[in-house]
Amino acid sequence: MKILYLNGSPKGDNSVTLQYLLYLKKKFPDHDYKVWHIAQKIKSIEKQPDLFQEILKDVKSAEGIIWGFPLYCLLLPSQFKRFIELIFEGGKDVQDKFKGKYTVALSTSIHFYDHTCHNYMQAICDDLDMKYVGKFSADTWDILNRKNRPTWLAFGKKFFSAIQDTKPTIKSFMPLLSRDFSYIPTNSSKKIQLNGKKLVLIVDNQDSTSNIGKMIEQFQSSFGTSISIYSHENIDLKFPCIGCMKCGYDNRCSYDGKDGFNEFWRNHLMDADIIVFAGEMKDRYLSSQWKKFLDRAYFRNHTPSFTGKQFGMLISGPLSQNPNLKEIIQGFAEFQQMNLSGIITDEFGDSTDIDALILNFAEELIYNVKQKFIAPHSFHGVASQKIFRDDVYGRLRFVCQADHRHYKTNGYYQSFPQNNKVFKKINRKMMFLSRFKKFRTQLYKRIADELVRPFKKLVAAPYR
Ligand SMILES: Cc1cc2nc3c(=O)[nH]c(=O)nc-3n(C[C@H](O)[C@H](O)[C@H](O)COP(=O)(O)O)c2cc1C
Repeated sequence: MKILYLNGSPKGDNSVTLQYLLYLKKKFPDHDYKVWHIAQKIKSIEKQPDLFQEILKDVKSAEGIIWGFPLYCLLLPSQFKRFIELIFEGGKDVQDKFKGKYTVALSTSIHFYDHTCHNYMQAICDDLDMKYVGKFSADTWDILNRKNRPTWLAFGKKFFSAIQDTKPTIKSFMPLLSRDFSYIPTNSSKKIQLNGKKLVLIVDNQDSTSNIGKMIEQFQSSFGTSISIYSHENIDLKFPCIGCMKCGYDNRCSYDGKDGFNEFWRNHLMDADIIVFAGEMKDRYLSSQWKKFLDRAYFRNHTPSFTGKQFGMLISGPLSQNPNLKEIIQGFAEFQQMNLSGIITDEFGDSTDIDALILNFAEELIYNVKQKFIAPHSFHGVASQKIFRDDVYGRLRFVCQADHRHYKTNGYYQSFPQNNKVFKKINRKMMFLSRFKKFRTQLYKRIADELVRPFKKLVAAPYR
């Protein structure tokens, strides 16, 4: 069988994820495997139509396609995202090459938002009308452990059998429907005062005729004073992240001084009170240009840059049909320890409704910043902090030394349950007493009362 591996790692041959394919090939050598280093060669693919056509020829003749990629910042790398955009930009002719092909998605990561990345990839496969057999989301080091290898090989075997036996596959994502709507804003006489707070608005393109362009202008004009607006172009964002990991030592990026991104992040974003991103949905995410921006932010590794800030987004596109993107945005905000004040889209209502939403959004950002309002973090933020705390303390420490220093000085390691002296003492005592049936009977009879007792005390006490 002809198996085509589309390599989404910018590291090309040195991709860890690719080694999973090579291991599979060792076990099943009779198939004909071909690898295209898509992410690494994306610039050439964009510039040379012949090269793109050559890849498409292999897509057309393949019986099975493996999308292989590392997780980069809650999705796949911007270079691979760009390739997906090229497929859709190519129109029906290009998309039809993928139609009906059996496919799987393979990733390696430390399982931080691997589910959002795989949801995205599966939705893309559904959009391309491919036969999606499943995903394999491995921890980076999984196949180095003997006990994990059979699972990967079993998955590969299942993929080959699905192709051979033309097994049926399930679709999970409905196509996105965009409405045909042109937003015509009306300038409001009400103006929101910034009161000395710094608000930075970042946009990926500034086409003033598009809905997003007009939403950006309306947002700007909601304020009594001018706000700082930067486009990706004028911050001089040239290069995509290539995963070199040099930043792990001291948050210095290998592109420091070569383009303007890192300086912009440090000097214009990290001291802002409010950060707003704006962009159009492109396929199931924002643009690959936005992805490039967010991937480059990885120079801060697993250390949040924006603790205590307000964050929001203006998005043009059917976001409500794409909960995965909402989750990615929430995940980004919570990982950065920000408050997600709102996401305004152009998908519902008429222009007057959108005017009102934008004005209210501006007001809310200022209210929240004044109140220092940071909503309690949900699973998105709590889980990510625990994953990073454990990995930076353990296996990632020498690579991510800057994270380790930050975590140490900011008490992250104090949150290890084994470091909590009070609970250690309580647990010791209670576990000893729980050996006695009489105690257990009392414990479970009174547990609800005991749990709520301090809360009742707080509620009954005079307000402080
Ligand atoms: C820029 C960058 C961003 C990353 N983002 C994530 C992430 O969001 N979630 C995660 O679990 N791992 C993340 N990782 C870890 C990689 O996914 C992981 O190291 C992967 O195994 C690399 O695969 P590759 O060698 O095939 O490129 C990131 C690594 C880099 C360099």
